[in-house]
Amino acid sequence: MGERTRIGVIMGSVREGRLCDRVTAWVVRSLQGMEQLSVQVIDPVQFGIGGGRPKGVFAKDLSKQLAGMDGFIVITPEYNHSFPAALKELIDSAYDEWQTKPVGFVSYGGISGGIRAVEQLRQVFAELHTVTLRDSVALPDIWSRFDDSGELIDAGRTDSSLRKMVQRLRWWAAATRSARSVAPYDEAV
Ligand SMILES: Cc1cc2nc3c(=O)[nH]c(=O)nc-3n(C[C@H](O)[C@H](O)[C@H](O)COP(=O)(O)O)c2cc1C
Repeated sequence: MGERTRIGVIMGSVREGRLCDRVTAWVVRSLQGMEQLSVQVIDPVQFGIGGGRPKGVFAKDLSKQLAGMDGFIVITPEYNHSFPAALKELIDSAYDEWQTKPVGFVSYGGISGGIRAVEQLRQVFAELHTVTLRDSVALPDIWSRFDDSGELIDAGRTDSSLRKMVQRLRWWAAATRSARSVAPYDEAV
């Protein structure tokens, strides 16, 4: 058996009444059914992001959580053809902690399913020396995707897209963890 892959699931919205809660709960439930994964939800609200609270005290905790992960799934809505400011603030709060790690995306929104937000995030994560996955999961018309109990409606294809993305995330997480243990990335200059 290989090592467990530690995945940080990053919530992209801090909006009151956010649908991000439902999307995140579905992702976490799906990941819990997969072997050899440990999952940590990283919620910007917990770190004082987006709420106008002093966040200095939280910065160390955020850095520690990000540093402890092998890879990330970023859950993002689309706001005005981009991603939320709170998500940018969380991303910008760290640097080394992202480097060389894989990042997958679950997006949601109106007709586009958030893909424009994801394309912009790819540019941001390139600057942070991450590996963004080609595979992603998009949930268009997010308002009608969950039933009253929070279950994804007609989940079949979406579940299998998520599974495929997570398997590839694990591949990259194992590959990059192994590469870091052989040679520090900082020395590749
Ligand atoms: C400020 C704002 C801008 C939005 N812009 C878009 C958009 O450009 N494209 C889109 O598909 N949906 C857009 N939406 C719809 C959101 O994707 C949808 O409301 C989603 O539920 C927001 O995520 P949240 O509930 O987790 O905050 C926008 C929503 C908000 C609040």
